[in-house]
Amino acid sequence: MSEQKKVLITGCSSGFGLIIATHLASCGHKVIATMRNLEKEGDLLETAKDLQVDLETLHLDVTDNNSISVVKEHIASKYGNLDVLINNAGFGMAGFFEDLTENDIREQMETNFFGVQNVTRQMLPLLKQKTGSKIINISSVSGFTASPSFSAYCASKWALEAFSESLRFELRFFGVDVLLIEPGSYKTKIFFENARLATNFYNKESQYYQLSQHLKNTIDSSISKNTKDPQDIARLTEKLINQKNPPFRNIPDLSSKLIYVFRKYSPFWLYSWIIEKAMLRKCK
Ligand SMILES: NC(=O)c1ccc[n+]([C@@H]2O[C@H](COP(=O)([O-])OP(=O)(O)OC[C@H]3O[C@@H](n4cnc5c(N)ncnc54)[C@H](OP(=O)(O)O)[C@@H]3O)[C@@H](O)[C@H]2O)c1
Repeated sequence: MSEQKKVLITGCSSGFGLIIATHLASCGHKVIATMRNLEKEGDLLETAKDLQVDLETLHLDVTDNNSISVVKEHIASKYGNLDVLINNAGFGMAGFFEDLTENDIREQMETNFFGVQNVTRQMLPLLKQKTGSKIINISSVSGFTASPSFSAYCASKWALEAFSESLRFELRFFGVDVLLIEPGSYKTKIFFENARLATNFYNKESQYYQLSQHLKNTIDSSISKNTKDPQDIARLTEKLINQKNPPFRNIPDLSSKLIYVFRKYSPFWLYSWIIEKAMLRKCK
């Protein structure tokens, strides 16, 4: 068995957070699984019970510095340090720019970008206590591509990627590693009950109304057929935690790997022609 690490994870009430938390606990790690609403801890605790593993659940909202501070004090007094921080909490805001309000976009950035910074800022003193500690940021294929109707989400993940890359250089001096996981689409609550839509998404007066509905139907249908296993993200996380010099960018699924290579090496006109053909043409 690998060496036991103390791992703090955000957004563990569902999806990747829940699966990563229970998987790491089953691998013998000390998991501090946090969520913004502890009334939602049922699924996590049930999965932990099924796997016969132990983990600690604590309240943490990434947009609320007080809640982060309480968790930090708890870890400092109970353990004295932290080996791994996994910034996972996030949501996706769908909608064309002109259908989004400034508030819609700010809320997206508050969670997916500033939320990561809030938690990282407060946990860094604990991570710096341990040589070889790691920060793993859950980005997305949308952290290196951009698609119509997801400008707010893509911007939040591109910002997260730039921040992570800079931070990686800065924290080298202190022996703290910064990594990215960039998943494609997986069937989690992010596309269902946790999906967020622009304020004017259903406004029939909007010039984007037809396009929005078409894209939503396309995405809903593609997600319902999605068979990618979210457990792959948990296995990858465990591998990265144990690896001595893990890569900075980690793309778990083949389709996103292909998109990465295509986006990087093909001319932009070709890439954008395909995006337009795939996503917008049927609507014209
Ligand atoms: N699923 C995918 O296809 C996919 C692909 C690429 C990247 N990702 C990324 O993976 C991460 C996890 O998403 P998921 O797919 O597992 O979706 P999910 O099932 O909707 O889980 C998202 C988690 O984030 C939590 N959260 C949202 N806002 C929060 C806040 N302010 N403070 C603390 N927790 C908060 C949610 O809590 P509540 O239950 O309280 O809402 C939930 O626990 C996100 O960063 C997402 O962008 C997902």
